[in-house]
Amino acid sequence: MGSKEDPYRVILTEKELPEAWYNIQADLPVPAPPPIHPATKEPCTADDLLPLFPVELVKQEVSRERYVEIPEPVRDVYKMYRPSPLHRAYRLEKELDTPARIFYKNESLSPAGSHKPNTAIAQAYYNKAEGVENITTETGAGQWGSALALGCKLFGINLRVYMVKISFQQKPYRRTMMEVWGATVFASPTDTTEAGRAVLAEDPDCPGSLGLAISEAVEACVTSDNTKYALGSVLNHVCMHQTIVGLEAKAQMEKIDEYPDVVIGCVGGGSNFSGLAFPFMKDKFEGTDVQAIAVEPVSCPTLTAGKYEYDFGDQAGTTPLLKMYTLGHKFIPSPIHAGGLRYHGDAPLLSLLVNEGYMDAVAYPQTEIFDAAMMFARTEGLIIAPETAHCVKYTIDEALRCRESGESKSLLFNLSGHGLLDLKGYEEYIAGNLVDYSR
Ligand SMILES: Cc1ncc(COP(=O)(O)O)c(C=O)c1O
Repeated sequence: MGSKEDPYRVILTEKELPEAWYNIQADLPVPAPPPIHPATKEPCTADDLLPLFPVELVKQEVSRERYVEIPEPVRDVYKMYRPSPLHRAYRLEKELDTPARIFYKNESLSPAGSHKPNTAIAQAYYNKAEGVENITTETGAGQWGSALALGCKLFGINLRVYMVKISFQQKPYRRTMMEVWGATVFASPTDTTEAGRAVLAEDPDCPGSLGLAISEAVEACVTSDNTKYALGSVLNHVCMHQTIVGLEAKAQMEKIDEYPDVVIGCVGGGSNFSGLAFPFMKDKFEGTDVQAIAVEPVSCPTLTAGKYEYDFGDQAGTTPLLKMYTLGHKFIPSPIHAGGLRYHGDAPLLSLLVNEGYMDAVAYPQTEIFDAAMMFARTEGLIIAPETAHCVKYTIDEALRCRESGESKSLLFNLSGHGLLDLKGYEEYIAGNLVDYSR
């Protein structure tokens, strides 16, 4: 059991960087429902996925191997910013006057400022290893696009990014970051794809959505030469790459004789939360008592109000059908500042575990998550991404419940990104202009 003597930060050395990712598919209590081909309605085969992804990532998507070795060139790039520190939030605890012990894994220290490079670097590497010259992708808030731009620059691949239009307007400097790392960026919907043109014909002012940007990126991929597509969340291999976060966190907590009672993360497509939580879920399957809480916006409440059913991953209905919690692939979420949480679906692996009762989900409106982000900035110092603020809000609420009950729980959340390019949201909050949206 940890104590008031814990260090502020628990650091791992480069040598302690994990050598393999954890693949939860090896340990699932029930098998994951397969993706379904949109035309045949049969389970997808590897051949169905190969036009979009390199062979190695398709293999990882369906692999049942418990640990998948991280290639040396990927580990080399990881070492630019990993292992990331685990912090104890002493000042937040003091502010809340709580007996809870609050820990956070700081993924905001990557060059792009979030957890997204953990998979971007791996995906760029596997594409390069198979001779791919061009990649297309979508991005919401720009965190994924900038992470992949960095990965593609480091491995020498050209990148085209379809950025959700509302975020393109709210976060112009994310676009600049992508361009600094050599990517070409479009505000989605564009008139360069069939999917984009169809939406613009109905609504010329459409703010865009991740589902629509995916349609555009997939269409651009399949209509271009030597081009693959990359997705920044949702898919099994993406969640697996993110388990580096949970594997490190577990080792760091062990060093101070700690184990979390609750693991918390915000959920857009589900990758950062899966990455932190899956290594702990392995213990839960074996009988360990650990709670896992996914936190999402009330304006895009996939896990808390969506249906668990097969749906398309994109707006135009061109991707395989995935069994997941979904609000329907035509859903266009309100323009909240947590752009990375505006996705109609969720990772099938995460959805399965929520449906089976291994994980729970809660939702908050954006004014409440900014209250939490402000408290965090004014105690711990870090200005966090609005996405991350969702799990900070839950952590604060749980710590306050501990104050009431006197329980000294150990709470661990994933600080998935900094908010230094999200200051518009903070500006509106401070000016009292921030509005809440319902679904
Ligand atoms: C900082 C940050 N956190 C969380 C997310 C949500 O994505 P995911 O659920 O895949 O982790 C995003 C997405 O862009 C993000 O930028």
